[in-house]
Amino acid sequence: MSNADQIEYWNSKVGDTWARMQDRLDLSFTPLTEALLAIAAPQPGDQVLDVGCGTGEISLVIDAAVGEAGSVLGLDISEQMLARARERADELLSEAEFRNADAATFADEGDFDLIVSRFGVMFFDDPQAAFANLHARAASGGRLAFACWQPAAVNPWATLPMTVLADLLPEMPASDPLAPGPFAFADPERVGAILGQAGWQDVAVHALPFAMVTGTGDDPIASAVHFSLRIGPAARAVRDAGPAVEAEARQRLAAAFADHLTDGAVALPANAWLVTARA
Ligand SMILES: C[S@@+](CC[C@H](N)C(=O)[O-])C[C@H]1O[C@@H](n2cnc3c(N)ncnc32)[C@H](O)[C@@H]1O
Repeated sequence: MSNADQIEYWNSKVGDTWARMQDRLDLSFTPLTEALLAIAAPQPGDQVLDVGCGTGEISLVIDAAVGEAGSVLGLDISEQMLARARERADELLSEAEFRNADAATFADEGDFDLIVSRFGVMFFDDPQAAFANLHARAASGGRLAFACWQPAAVNPWATLPMTVLADLLPEMPASDPLAPGPFAFADPERVGAILGQAGWQDVAVHALPFAMVTGTGDDPIASAVHFSLRIGPAARAVRDAGPAVEAEARQRLAAAFADHLTDGAVALPANAWLVTARA
């Protein structure tokens, strides 16, 4: 997918879904968010750029940490998600600013002490050029800290629904593992090479296993089924397959998620990388 295709994709129904599911997604990423914020370590007075900020969770938390002397600019290409981020900033009386811009080419400002991203940097069609642009936006010695996914094979939150529904859905064409998408940065050596060639130094990659809560509330299994029919690789495939397949898919997913019900929540294994570097 080219950057133009990404803009179309994230402004389609997908952007609406991510905006509407904001609280559910933020809940599911909670352990990762805490680890990313700890490793990013925003300081009072920092000027911060949040790349692919989506509905704003990371920007809003960091804005509170950097105080009056600091600032946070969240960049995204999805109008629907930016609208939700701005709404939240209003509710919280946050000074975080949210702007519609492609982070690969954004050049309006450039003296950031910290560039951060939660799952927003795996979608560039030319990642090396995009990270060189981000390097040019960083202050001398500025820090980079982002989260990206480890391979799909160690992320059952994404693969379990596809496995359970495999014989119901048309066979998926084999996809290029390096193509822009959630798992494009699964190989830490490739990430290190991209960042190094883009000018970043002291690249470090830390593994972060976490339990991704996809179902909560009075009926956590129904809640997890709802989640997986809206977010992740199975969502679109089931929608395209029609209502009869969707009814069967709901039953099968409910049975599979029952095995992952603990303490009143459905939690699926997830594995991310936390990547840090210095300009
Ligand atoms: C998986 S979502 C993550 C959103 C948010 N960071 C979060 O954790 O909830 C990826 C985000 O990256 C954004 N994105 C993709 N390509 C981008 C680009 N070139 N510039 C800015 N944002 C981009 C998408 O619009 C989307 O909001």
